[in-house]
Amino acid sequence: METKRSTLTITDNRTGKQYELPIENETIRANDLRQMKVNPDDFGIMTYDPAYMATASCKSTITFIDGDKGILRYRGYPIEQLAEKCSYLEVAYLLLFGELPNKAQLEEWTAHITTHTFVHENLKKLMDGFHYDAHPMGMFVSTVAALSTFYPGAKKISDPTERAMTFYRLIGKAPTLAAFAYRHSVGMPYVHPDNELSYAGNFLSMMYKVAEPKYKPNPVLEHALDVLYILHADHEQNCSTSAMRGVGSSQVDPYSAAAAASAALYGPLHGGANEAVLRMLDEIGTKEKIPAFIKEVKEGKGRLMGFGHRVYKNYDPRASIIKRLADQVFEVTGRNPKLDIALELERIALQDDYFVKRKLYPNVDFYSGLIYQAMKFPVDMFPVLFAIGRMSGWLAQWQELLLDPEQKIARPRQVYLGKGARDVPMLSQR
Ligand code: CMC
Repeated sequence: METKRSTLTITDNRTGKQYELPIENETIRANDLRQMKVNPDDFGIMTYDPAYMATASCKSTITFIDGDKGILRYRGYPIEQLAEKCSYLEVAYLLLFGELPNKAQLEEWTAHITTHTFVHENLKKLMDGFHYDAHPMGMFVSTVAALSTFYPGAKKISDPTERAMTFYRLIGKAPTLAAFAYRHSVGMPYVHPDNELSYAGNFLSMMYKVAEPKYKPNPVLEHALDVLYILHADHEQNCSTSAMRGVGSSQVDPYSAAAAASAALYGPLHGGANEAVLRMLDEIGTKEKIPAFIKEVKEGKGRLMGFGHRVYKNYDPRASIIKRLADQVFEVTGRNPKLDIALELERIALQDDYFVKRKLYPNVDFYSGLIYQAMKFPVDMFPVLFAIGRMSGWLAQWQELLLDPEQKIARPRQVYLGKGARDVPMLSQR
């Protein structure tokens, strides 16, 4: 019997030559195609893959997704169990260091993060410079970038101690920058971090504290926010993570790379989708208008925001957890009236041939905005909340990139279809 080889045989019909390429981890190396040439001075065959639909750009041990089965795991642990049994800071540690912390490790890690929540006073001045109606995500992106100017030592990216300092600082300060952006937009004084509170509780304090000597977060809302951070913490090679890796591959400091990742997250097709969902629900307004809205979506006049995913072709497991979490939150805050519109939208869409055929299911952003709104976060803060949770994932992916000997500066190729060489005419001749 012929033994099966883990290779791919390709015949180049231009030359009649055959090539045998090794298959490893169900991939071939695109570079192996370069040997296929018509002439010795040809560049060789490339793959053409806009939006990287079928191209793996790295090997990773951080997050596993099975999009058909609706499975999400961080370092092997199912997201459902992490959301139930762990805090966000435990999950952040897991993403960064590969294992869950024991009690002593967690105490040390929490102490590090907590002692890095304050920002330099000059950052407040920078924040003050924004216009009163600046989008908080724009302020967040800019101030994360500005952190690089305060910590020039972070440029030493091959120094593990500097990298650890960046983890403490970026995870510690992200909620502070986010809350300051909000306070600036509503004209309220900034609230300093309260290091006696939990990671999520401190954020709520910096957002909502007014004149009370000590802000006491509602434990249900504090827990819900912590779970939302866990659900958003990593999602393998999505747009913002690819930005973190791509920009980080130039060996720039991690604050600049995290600012680029935050900017990628700002877009309505990515982290800005939760904001877009709420605006869409407002626009629909009543359940009666849903069929007309769905009809327009099917005619290509817009998208059902919070639906569909590049990887999930099944219910997003994060959306199921959030749906359950919403019930707990609404018991405290009262039911968000938009929930009825969202539930009805989901019911109709999941029965509609258009969505069924394309395997479009609710994603993480479909219900998260309803919780955020019930917790009194303004809609334009939603992507910022996503960014706080995602910071640990970006950093874990960035470190993995740096420690991977196969990685180099990211530099995709192109297929050039422009004009051939020609002479530049003088201005008078154009
Ligand atoms: N509403 C209506 N039609 C859709 C939607 C949608 N939300 N999403 C995809 N489609 C259609 C699309 O028109 C296309 O149809 P056709 O084959 O007839 O041209 C088909 O489904 C495949 O869509 P695609 O755009 O090729 O899929 P993609 O993998 O490139 O896009 C996506 C994934 C998430 C950008 C897209 O589903 C989308 O725009 N969804 C709405 C925005 C959203 O909720 N984004 C949050 C994603 S989850 C959080 C995160 O990772 O940031």
